[in-house]
Amino acid sequence: MGDSPELTQSLTMLASVPMFSGLTKAQLRYVVQSAKERSYRAGEAIVRQGEKGIGFYLVVEGTAQVERGGKPVATLGPGQFFGEMALVEEQPRTADVRATPGPVRCLVLSSWDFWSAVGKEPEVLRTLFKETVRRIRANSAALSE
Ligand code: CMP
Repeated sequence: MGDSPELTQSLTMLASVPMFSGLTKAQLRYVVQSAKERSYRAGEAIVRQGEKGIGFYLVVEGTAQVERGGKPVATLGPGQFFGEMALVEEQPRTADVRATPGPVRCLVLSSWDFWSAVGKEPEVLRTLFKETVRRIRANSAALSE
C-alpha cells in the first residue's frame, strides 16, 4: 500500500528542513510516524513561558511568534522549530509561542521521540545545537540592552 497524501506531504516537508535533511528516508518516516499533528487557532498560545516542556514543535503551515516578557523576539515559519530548549535542559519554557497572525499547523514530537530523532545523526544534533546557541545569544543580548 502507498503512503497517504498527508504522510507524503509530511515526509517531503521534513526532508526539506535543514535540521532533518541528513536523515535517511527510513529515519524520516520514523520521525513523521511518531509525531502528532496539531493545529492552533489564530492568537492561540502553543507553549507558555515558565511552563514545563513536554514537546518539540516543527511548524508545517502558518507562522508562530516567539514572545519573551510579552515582547515579540522572533517569527518562525514552515520548516522552523521551537520547544527544544525546555527539552534539552529539562527546565521551564523560556518564551511564549503563539499562532500569529493566522492559524498554525505543527508536527509535535514528545521528548522521547525528539531525543530519538536527534540522537540518530550527529548532523541533526549539530544543527539543533547551532540554532539553540544562536537563540540563547539573542536572548541574552536583548536582556543586556
Ligand atoms: P522552549 O524554551 O522550550 O520554549 C519556548 C521556545 O521559544 C524555546 O524553547 C525556543 O524554541 C524558542 N525561542 C526562545 N528564544 C528564541 C529566540 N530568540 N529566537 C527564536 N526562538 C526562540
